Amino acid sequence: MKKILFANWKMNPMTENEAVKLARASDVKDAVLIPPFPFLKAVKNVLKNASLGAQDVFYEEEGAYTGEVSPQMLKKLEVKYVVVGHSERRRLGESDEMIAKKMKAGTDVGLKVILCVGEPLSVYKKGKKVTEEFIKKQFRFIKDKKNLIIAYEPIWAVGTGKNADPEDAARVARFIKSIVSVPVLYGGSTNSKNAEDFLKKKEIAGLLIGGASIDAKEFQKMIKIAKRF
Ligand code: 13P
Repeated sequence: MKKILFANWKMNPMTENEAVKLARASDVKDAVLIPPFPFLKAVKNVLKNASLGAQDVFYEEEGAYTGEVSPQMLKKLEVKYVVVGHSERRRLGESDEMIAKKMKAGTDVGLKVILCVGEPLSVYKKGKKVTEEFIKKQFRFIKDKKNLIIAYEPIWAVGTGKNADPEDAARVARFIKSIVSVPVLYGGSTNSKNAEDFLKKKEIAGLLIGGASIDAKEFQKMIKIAKRF
């Protein structure tokens, strides 16, 4: 199966012009670009090969929900994928219950939902089995695995420059797949130097990339590597 690279730009870049430039440089098949909401339309307008994703979604269709964006609004912008439960949002107070509602709302309108799961450093330090039990708890609310992708993103590896051991990531991916049989991505401090080590694992369907995805040259290198698989 083709490996897919998901570029989570987070709250970057600062301007629409920069976003469009980055989108043009990253526009290849098997890449999914996930810009901030205000740039979705401009990015969509220049994409010829890559798919479009969003960084979050709300679970209601419309109404008095200040600051939220509905699944239907994303669909109308031709968004295909949506990230839910990223650790950077869980840290702001998002609960498993809210994330479950977002997953359902997203898949109900046909969006492909990327559910992020991963353990904090304290859990990781306690050993492998504990990591797996921790992740399993985040699965309590998964009802429907249609259109679901799971991204294993150890919290201690996100934006820290410390990636997981690819062998450990593959083991966790296998564990996840033994519970829900869906594609599993790895995310956390990936770059052109370590991408191959993750992508060569058959259990890992692709990467969810943060920092390296807003560096066009670095992302292009990673795309070249992914094409070999
Ligand atoms: P980094 O690649 O910057 O560690 O971020 C990973 C991530 O959070 C992707 O969603």
